[in-house]
Amino acid sequence: MTIVHGGNVYELAAKAGCSPEQILDFSASINPLGPPPGLEEELAGCFGLLQSYPDIHCKGLIEAISKFHDIDPACIAVTNGSTELIYWLPKALAAGLALAVLPAFGEYVKAFELHGTRVEKLFPASGDFFQPGVEQLEASLENERFDTVLLTHPSSPAGSLLNDRVVDWIVEKSTGSGPFLLVDEVFVDFCEQACLKRFVETSDNLALIRSFTKFYGLPGLRIGYLLASPRIARRVREFVPPWSVSTQAQVAGAFCLARQDYRLRTLETIEKQRSRLAWELSAIPGLEVFPGSANFLLVRMAPELGPASSLKWDLFNRCRILIRDCGSFEGLGERYFRVAVRLPEQNDRLIEALKSGFAARG
Ligand SMILES: Cc1ncc(COP(=O)(O)O)c(C=O)c1O
Repeated sequence: MTIVHGGNVYELAAKAGCSPEQILDFSASINPLGPPPGLEEELAGCFGLLQSYPDIHCKGLIEAISKFHDIDPACIAVTNGSTELIYWLPKALAAGLALAVLPAFGEYVKAFELHGTRVEKLFPASGDFFQPGVEQLEASLENERFDTVLLTHPSSPAGSLLNDRVVDWIVEKSTGSGPFLLVDEVFVDFCEQACLKRFVETSDNLALIRSFTKFYGLPGLRIGYLLASPRIARRVREFVPPWSVSTQAQVAGAFCLARQDYRLRTLETIEKQRSRLAWELSAIPGLEVFPGSANFLLVRMAPELGPASSLKWDLFNRCRILIRDCGSFEGLGERYFRVAVRLPEQNDRLIEALKSGFAARG
């Protein structure tokens, strides 16, 4: 099973005969400010440590995560990007029958299926911004005895939060003999107040999937982590191979969590640019923008504008701008695309390119 991802600038640059840096990438939703200032020096400073194996227990990073979230270290497991965690969870939880709320990050269904988990799919309506209601979830659980349920919060690629009733439902279900509730929160750093972390210490079956990739602008370093009940965290830690998380990743993770100024600057930048970008995109005839709480926006195109795949290639060929055509997300159609929220002049280039493209088509 091949999963399509955004951000494949190396492959596209090779095909187009340009360098990856020449591509303005709106397809992967990564903090446009880049990693926190000072990280480069911090990493250079730990060069000497590369002669030893990384700390096998990731002690320093786990302590930093515990302090940052005010959560017991027993509730934390660290992995090589959250994608590694996504592949261990079905095994660690012995998932047999899972309910996946889609659209979602494509690796979940693949990870479940590789483990032999049967996956049933639930598709919330676009009118509900692709988040399920309690009734929909209840109806699914009445039909089948799912042992695992997957949700995304904020959702990806729509960027919408779970409503309060669903949050209460998750908390109620994730105790005792209920199913494991996996909630992908890799984008929740952009709206941390909505995070479900306040429930993990007391909810036996709740597992939150987190990442340093998006908020700290570090897709190349690979740092992900789990916040869950001690029982789940222990099971996951048993599966993660020794030294899976490099020394640089452990040092960088702890460094990032101590950068309060950078965090505030990121939140301010994203909030301001997201509203501006949403406003500019909505002003283009035929584009409908979904309200998002993360650092990206989902857009639906009117049928007369053609499929998002044509738009993607037009923008790439004319302007070396890359957007995420959402045709490969199960549950979305050919009329959806997603764009990251970037810096003001970069967002301007996107808007100009879109306007000139649609104008040329008449
Ligand atoms: C919703 C979602 N979850 C998880 C991931 C995996 O991120 P990483 O492995 O870099 O932590 C991604 C990556 O695109 C994602 O979009």
